[in-house]
Amino acid sequence: MEYTIKTIGVLTSGGDAPGMNAAVRAVTRAAIANNIRVKAIFRGYEGLMAGEIQEFTSQDVSGIIQRGGTILKSARSKEFMTPEGRKKAYETMQREEIDALIVIGGDGSFTGARQLGQEFNVPIVGIPGTIDNDLWGTDSTIGYDTALNTIMECVDKLRDTGTSHERLFLVEVMGRDAGFLTLNAAIAAGAEAAVIPERTTLEKQLETAIGYGRRKHKNSSIVLVQEHSVPGGAQAVAKTIEELHPEYDTRVTILGHLQRGGSPTAFDRILASRFGVAAVQALLDEQRSIMVGLQNGEIVYVPLSKAIKQKKDIKDDKWEALQVLSI
Ligand code: F6P
Repeated sequence: MEYTIKTIGVLTSGGDAPGMNAAVRAVTRAAIANNIRVKAIFRGYEGLMAGEIQEFTSQDVSGIIQRGGTILKSARSKEFMTPEGRKKAYETMQREEIDALIVIGGDGSFTGARQLGQEFNVPIVGIPGTIDNDLWGTDSTIGYDTALNTIMECVDKLRDTGTSHERLFLVEVMGRDAGFLTLNAAIAAGAEAAVIPERTTLEKQLETAIGYGRRKHKNSSIVLVQEHSVPGGAQAVAKTIEELHPEYDTRVTILGHLQRGGSPTAFDRILASRFGVAAVQALLDEQRSIMVGLQNGEIVYVPLSKAIKQKKDIKDDKWEALQVLSI
């Protein structure tokens, strides 16, 4: 069936990520530049089902490129995961004359989007927006670089106090099932070790990293622990170490949701701007059920099915670099 796209709907869904606003701005302005109307959908799929929609002009996205969070608000919707929920969403799209949808979010959001596209023959384009960087087909997701820098700055600060008191800090980092944030922040902040779901960290490895640091000139140690790498997260790792080494003065810091906030870095603003323009272009080119991505500096289009199902790997050289550099 031939589709002429006159109106695009745009929404943000799942965990917010710095740079989502820059993507909303880019989608809006690129669409208007191509004589396509833009309807902003508030509160993700919840708002799509409930009809919380407003047409956006170019002015509506003024002054937002530097703002963290998402002006469209976000939600994780259980109802949209049901066929009844998606039917409601499609009915809203018909009522509002929305011909295609651009979804800015992570893999949960894309799973629902893909189903909506298949069930109702709606063109869907995904823009990867999550601090976790866990989507296959793109080297980076919107928000990842900002979160990485936030974590690095926090760990730098912990290093100051850790050194003053000769302490061992265990820092819990977000990432859902992925260790990208944890491993890369560990390298960037010069941490002694990282515990991530994709690699086994033996107790012995941890001891070597921490113990060697203590014997050497170092008088503080920092270990980054991915939130779901071991049951109980950083608290559990701390307990194990304390049992083995009661002489270590150990502290736990859970960075939590502060990792999701803040003004996006230049990298994330540029990435989000490129993704937004590319997403509109994809619809003009009659692509559907795809995600825009970045590979080796170039914009690519990958099938949503692959982006969701395939697993992105941790680079071996990074894991090895951390092991070598921490001793
Ligand atoms: O996906 C982004 C993320 O921040 C994950 O790193 C984390 O596990 C999860 O969202 C936390 O979700 P919520 O904000 O619902 O607590």
